[in-house]
Amino acid sequence: MSRPRVLSGIQPTADSFHIGNYLGALRQWVALQETHDTFYCVVDLHAITLPQEPAELRARTRVAAAQLFAAGLDPDSSTVFVQSHVPEHPALEWVLACITGFGEASRMIQFKDKSAKGGADAASVGLFTYPILQAADILLYDADQVPVGEDQRQHLELTRDLAQRFNYRFGPTFVVPGPYILPGVAKIGDLQDPTIKMSKSASSPQGIIDILEDPDSIRRKIMRAVTDTDGEVRADEAAKPGVTNLLRIYAALAGEPVPSLERQYAGAGYGKLKKDLAEVVVDAFGPIRERTEKLLANESELDRLLAAGAEKAHRIAAATMARVRDRMGFLPPA
Ligand code: TYM
Repeated sequence: MSRPRVLSGIQPTADSFHIGNYLGALRQWVALQETHDTFYCVVDLHAITLPQEPAELRARTRVAAAQLFAAGLDPDSSTVFVQSHVPEHPALEWVLACITGFGEASRMIQFKDKSAKGGADAASVGLFTYPILQAADILLYDADQVPVGEDQRQHLELTRDLAQRFNYRFGPTFVVPGPYILPGVAKIGDLQDPTIKMSKSASSPQGIIDILEDPDSIRRKIMRAVTDTDGEVRADEAAKPGVTNLLRIYAALAGEPVPSLERQYAGAGYGKLKKDLAEVVVDAFGPIRERTEKLLANESELDRLLAAGAEKAHRIAAATMARVRDRMGFLPPA
């Protein structure tokens, strides 16, 4: 029996992924390799929905890919590729855009958030159609499951709606995918304002921990993380969002349930919790940082891995797109 298929993507818009990306998505990507047929892409076409400096985009695309391999994606089991290397992504996006309602696209929360920041005039049409490109990424590969953080849930609902709508109008064509969102890690909070999600665009540097960050800087940020004044190490999302966030990060990285950490740190105070957590994070990210540096030192090998991934991805995407063209009634070239 063939394994269920997984696809997910990540934007190359920072010099490093952060711990929210890692716990909310990347770690699941690595684990799913054991049981699923896995496809992961660095979504550079999504990145340009906000202005990017070309040299920086190129460098960050390689840094992103290197971190994916360094975090444990195995090029022999996962297909890892760069989105713009597979021309079917924007091709399918156009077709899907033509069955998406304007009002439907207007309801996307991430568009509202991102466009609100720069003012409506600064927002591009690409930013508006961003979730439709994401739907194309997923539907091209017949993905059954999409491992992401909570902030992507609405985009996955749109993807499901578009797949069902297309199948209804043109006959069975797409697999209708489901979200793979793990509770507890789906929304890692900002260290300075734990009521909002950690995010490269919204968080201050003090609120973010990067995978490639220097260990002393990681320690400092965790020691300064905002908590509360009652001093009790206990998870309570509403009353104690800061401590709850730290406990969740700790639990996920150490593989220990939150209640067992609560017992372990009962009466110990936040200082001890933060000190130990800092070492857990430094130990988890140290080896990833070293492997990333090694991979980046050999660009041609990294590019070769990405070319092999793109070739495999392209074969599947081209077959899906041929199916779509036929269903739509596009006259094949003679
Ligand atoms: P991106 O690049 O913003 O984030 C990559 C992944 O990290 C998750 N994430 C978080 N999880 C938990 N806590 C956080 N604070 C946190 N911040 C980010 C995101 O949910 C995501 O899973 N639109 C996508 C990229 C994309 C995609 C796709 C995803 C493009 N095409 C197809 C899945 C399938 C995005 O911007 O992710």
